Amino acid sequence: MTERIEMSVAGIRDLTNEIKEFRLSSLSGMPLPAADAGAHITVETPSGAMRRYSLIHPSEKPEDYTIAVKREPDSRGGSLSMHAELTEGDSIRIEPPQNDFALTNAEGFLLIAGGIGITPIYSMAQSLSAANKPFQLIYCTRSPAHTAYGKALKELCGEALTLHHDQGEPANVYDFWDHFEKPGREHVYCCGPSQLMDEVKALSGHWPEENIHFEEFKAVEIIREDDQPFDVILEQSNRKLTVPADRTILETIRDAGIPTKSSCESGTCGTCRTRLVSGDVDHRDMVLMEEEKENNVMICISRAKTGDLILDL
Ligand code: FES
Repeated sequence: MTERIEMSVAGIRDLTNEIKEFRLSSLSGMPLPAADAGAHITVETPSGAMRRYSLIHPSEKPEDYTIAVKREPDSRGGSLSMHAELTEGDSIRIEPPQNDFALTNAEGFLLIAGGIGITPIYSMAQSLSAANKPFQLIYCTRSPAHTAYGKALKELCGEALTLHHDQGEPANVYDFWDHFEKPGREHVYCCGPSQLMDEVKALSGHWPEENIHFEEFKAVEIIREDDQPFDVILEQSNRKLTVPADRTILETIRDAGIPTKSSCESGTCGTCRTRLVSGDVDHRDMVLMEEEKENNVMICISRAKTGDLILDL
């Protein structure tokens, strides 16, 4: 597992009704690793779930890390717990920055953001502006009230910024065609909701593939469409819980107020390994060896094939 850094929540502010900004500083006072434009950190949220958030400010010698988190009521609890449970002065653990969305050395840049997708794009705009490189930024949101960093972006980008509000009406979505009609030499960086990224993918099909970059925080497919509810019996706690079709065993146990350990919540780290007393498990993790599957289950991702599962919890 990647080594975690203990951070302290140095500041929280509301950017919109749904988006909060968190400034995290190092608890030990040790220098923080550098973060290029487009980098993200992975945060251990108060719910225990690990979530990736883009860093708002690029820096070679960061004094702190700033992230912005949208409250997603339909999500699996990570963003909700960040909004509801974190207060200034709390400590929180993160994994150091990584960058799967780094800027290339292009002649020009077209940055496209939708909603909370502005976070890596804002960082890129700061970096390009500081380096005096030509760029355009198109930022689509529902309305001014839903727009994080609108004022700061106007000051930073001036005429290079196009701010578009669609009021949530499909008929009002921004028309990108003029930007894509003729393949250019610029590189396009896009981050936002899947409809926006699908649109940009479709419009840029005739562009060189290497010029188009997307940041997709893809959720691992933990719940599948045909998943069914089943029961888990917790032998030590003497409890029986029903795992709904759209929840994991881990989430169900956590919801019941029983302490759990987890990290990746996608079947890759091994933290949630639980002893299986009996049951027919659909093992979906990447951790267990064949010979371990009879007596172990990764409760963040695996489910019952048939019948109940009895766990040593
Ligand atoms: S939490 Fe990582 S494998 Fe379950």
